[in-house]
Amino acid sequence: MEEIRQKKKEKNAVILAHYYVNDELQAIADYVGDSFYLAKAATGTNADVVVFCGVSFMGESVKLLNPEKTVLMPDAAADCPMAHMAKVERIRAYREQYDDLAVVCYINSTAELKSYSDVCVTSSNAVKIVRALPNRNIYFIPDGNLGRYVAGQVPEKNVILNDGYCPVHKAMTAGFIREARKKHPAAQVLAHPECEEGVLALADAVGSTADIIRYAKESDCKEFIVCTEEGVAFRLRGDNPDKSFYFPDGCACCQDMKMNTLEKLLHVLTTGENAVELDEALCRRAVLPLERMLELAK
Ligand code: 13P
Ligand code: SF4
Repeated sequence: MEEIRQKKKEKNAVILAHYYVNDELQAIADYVGDSFYLAKAATGTNADVVVFCGVSFMGESVKLLNPEKTVLMPDAAADCPMAHMAKVERIRAYREQYDDLAVVCYINSTAELKSYSDVCVTSSNAVKIVRALPNRNIYFIPDGNLGRYVAGQVPEKNVILNDGYCPVHKAMTAGFIREARKKHPAAQVLAHPECEEGVLALADAVGSTADIIRYAKESDCKEFIVCTEEGVAFRLRGDNPDKSFYFPDGCACCQDMKMNTLEKLLHVLTTGENAVELDEALCRRAVLPLERMLELAK
């Protein structure tokens, strides 16, 4: 950790980490947060180098918004499977079918998918942004679960759902919650909107990782069943030493997020390896929906 701190100074670097990465990375990072917070965080710094402890769509988003900065990923293979789960042909077909279609793209998507979209959203601003759009017809990619949740909150829109999903949140079942509630009857259930419909129906609160962390801190409740990736436990337990948090056994771990390690972080800081490189023409198109998100989320 000391070597990382030294190298960081030498290179004028900042470290960003998502709540899902290993505890020690969250501990050493300059900025820790949910996808929305992290997309904005690098923009406000004068760092030359950004090391992103997360998955590739996150590093890409930072690069799109900060093309002059070097963005390094501790492990270039750490990727979100859901980021690829939408088809350009289907986007084209819906654009043909609906004159006023807005393609709303969850930030968990490749730069290519973003380049075909009108606006990006994250789980913390999706409802607000979809509601604010002038379009009635919305094609929400790639996450079908977040899309369904948004559709329920914004009934005045026709939200067309896609069949992408997060394998980690999909594995958390309503059965788990029922069992966990039997064991911890006083606990409240907090769920990420990437969870399936049946899980969200049983939740006391639904929100992004940052929303879950805020809710647990502000609540008088002392026990929580948490339906999201277990990396958030670091912050939840740190903020609330007097409260208990229970996660779905065996499935609450994103293997891609866990590919980030202190050793790999030090390695890329030292060597400059794994820099995010994107085609210039692609960048010009893919940054537009991200900028629109930042504007509409204000
Ligand atoms: P948030 O950071 O918006 O809560 O999303 C969670 C996620 O799955 C990131 O990959
Ligand atoms: Fe992707 Fe799910 Fe991992 Fe988030 S938790 S990076 S959505 S696979």
